[in-house]
Amino acid sequence: MRAPYGDAEKLVFGRMFTEHMFSIKYSEGQGWHDGKIQKYGPFMMDPATAVLHYAQEVFEGLKAYKAADGRILLFRPEQNARRLNRSAAKLCMPELPEEIFLNALQELILLDQDWIPDTPGTSLYIRPTLIATEAFLGVDASKEYLFYIILSPVGAYFKAGFNPVSIYVEDKLVRAAVGGVGDIKTGGNYAASLLGGFRAEQKGFSQVLWLDAREHKYVEEVGAMNVFFVFGEKIVTPMLTGSILPGITRDSVIRLAKEMELEVEERRISIDEVLEGIKTGKLTEMFGSGTAAVISPVGMLHYQDTNYYINNNQVGNITKIFYDKLIDIQYGRVEDKLGWSYELK
Ligand code: PLP
Ligand code: COI
Repeated sequence: MRAPYGDAEKLVFGRMFTEHMFSIKYSEGQGWHDGKIQKYGPFMMDPATAVLHYAQEVFEGLKAYKAADGRILLFRPEQNARRLNRSAAKLCMPELPEEIFLNALQELILLDQDWIPDTPGTSLYIRPTLIATEAFLGVDASKEYLFYIILSPVGAYFKAGFNPVSIYVEDKLVRAAVGGVGDIKTGGNYAASLLGGFRAEQKGFSQVLWLDAREHKYVEEVGAMNVFFVFGEKIVTPMLTGSILPGITRDSVIRLAKEMELEVEERRISIDEVLEGIKTGKLTEMFGSGTAAVISPVGMLHYQDTNYYINNNQVGNITKIFYDKLIDIQYGRVEDKLGWSYELK
């Protein structure tokens, strides 16, 4: 039988959606109510709806993987439930009980399980979203909300697949500042990154590496992934200063590195240190980590009109080891010693 998503080879990121979606409403006084699964389709909205004006919105991103033996696995979904609530709290939105989040995923994904592709590199991307729905133009927290989940069968996030990407280091525009909302998953952070992304793309780069807002000196993260630098046997990743998203893949890489007895440093790392490391050969690999991007090798950084090639623009050994270890767990190919897999049944 033909898969509902068509040819798995042709899947791109986030353009196709499954047949159903989950939604649940919240209102002050009533709390969460009216949870339901229905056919995927548009919402009717009052033009004054709060989210459309002041961006009171948070979201999550995770994936369902089809194991070779047919099991359907999520990767650390309780971490997404928790991060959603941390994001919500920072934008004065109500917390969603973790059971609602997990039960909704369970029911919705099992219902649309035929949409989970199973060829290498493909999965079902899950987008839980919480929006402010009160129709009101005052700048105030909404009294009504809608939480919903949509599903999208996806292929690789980057056109390059598991091949080194070239990244533009942005030294003027800023994604997020300490004290702001860079450490939560809210739409505004992505809107703020669009111009930088657009300019980078015009120059032929697939992503932007953001620096800190105050000094334009310390490395923060890439548009949709955290970053890691490999110095021989040591891994360095920017510490969570408050303007970086605490990635669940980032946390998983740190734990895997410790298991592998690699030294891990979470600290501030300046762009000068990175470039110096590339020039002297001490920095041997760089990669990004994220749900959509998985582990993505970085082959070149462009900073102030100069290209800096890392590992001759080739995928490095340590990058490949992390990639393999992570996808082996995500696709259920190895024993889940860390308790990260969450089977839906
Ligand atoms: N940083 C940003 C800005 C992101 O959008 C993402 C993607 O979710 C990440 C990092 C990686 O986070 P995670 O590993 O939880 O997907
Ligand atoms: C994810 O990796 O889940 C993301 O949210 C990245 C995205 C903004 C495309």
